[in-house]
Amino acid sequence: MAYETILVETKGKVGLVTLNRPQALNALNGQLIAEINTALDGFERDPAIGCIVLTGSEKAFAAGADIKEMQDRTYPETYLDDKFADWDRIGQRRKPIVAAVAGFALGGGCELAMMCDFIIAADNAKFGQPEINLGVIPGAGGTQRLTRAVGKSKAMDLCLTGRMMDAAEAERAGLVARIVPLADLMTEVMKAADAIAAKSLPSALMVKETVNRAFEVTLAEGVRFERRLFSSLFATHDQKEGMAAFAEKRKPAFKNS
Ligand code: HXC
Repeated sequence: MAYETILVETKGKVGLVTLNRPQALNALNGQLIAEINTALDGFERDPAIGCIVLTGSEKAFAAGADIKEMQDRTYPETYLDDKFADWDRIGQRRKPIVAAVAGFALGGGCELAMMCDFIIAADNAKFGQPEINLGVIPGAGGTQRLTRAVGKSKAMDLCLTGRMMDAAEAERAGLVARIVPLADLMTEVMKAADAIAAKSLPSALMVKETVNRAFEVTLAEGVRFERRLFSSLFATHDQKEGMAAFAEKRKPAFKNS
């Protein structure tokens, strides 16, 4: 597949997607979102891939949905042409996805980062939901995911004022898992992604599924769900192997089975 707006690479067991519209600070147009999904489809199907990384450039992860593409849309067009379905698919992937964020992650860019499983930010990262400055509101889950990540007060602050927050504030608020110097971003993210890809894939998928469940159900239901999946892993080779390896003081050889 010839991509025009992203770069797609495989590095060992990690699939890397790099947003690549530098002239528009990686503004997310329909083509770019479709290409991300095509790349993710491939990585999801490939049994050799255990983790995916989504990144942008040093200046911008993504400066938002493409404003110039959206500006002339009418209400019926926006409503009927269900573009958000493509965005939603990114958040519904089964394999772990790490967002490596440098520079601007604004509007749809912040929303895209929040669809990933966690964010590692460079020290120059800036997050925000500035849609209110355009006379709209976040439309790809920003009001919901940001509120769950940072709480009501800061989500209201960001969405109502449209201001940006820097990496330190984003980390304090819980939006970002860790901050690293810009020059080390991809090295550190790849270390994390390699570590995840080296685990037993069924365990990694179940971690993702179970943590995400916490946002959908009551505590009792979530714990019940966790327990069912925990028990199910005792039917795998990799549980036997992982625990035997610990007892024998050696590294496990997982088979994803
Ligand atoms: C289209 C964009 C863009 C965007 C930047 N560009 N952001 N084009 N959509 N979201 C383009 C600019 O028009 C410009 O093109 C080039 O990228 C460089 O941008 P500059 O503004 O010249 O760069 P700079 O001065 O460094 O300012 C960076 C910036 C600013 C602060 C990030 O670009 C900015 O405010 N961008 C918009 C941020 C935003 O409002 N995002 C939310 C979008 S709405 P030219 O051709 O002039 O060189 C949204 C809704 C999501 O995301 C809903 C889900 C679908």
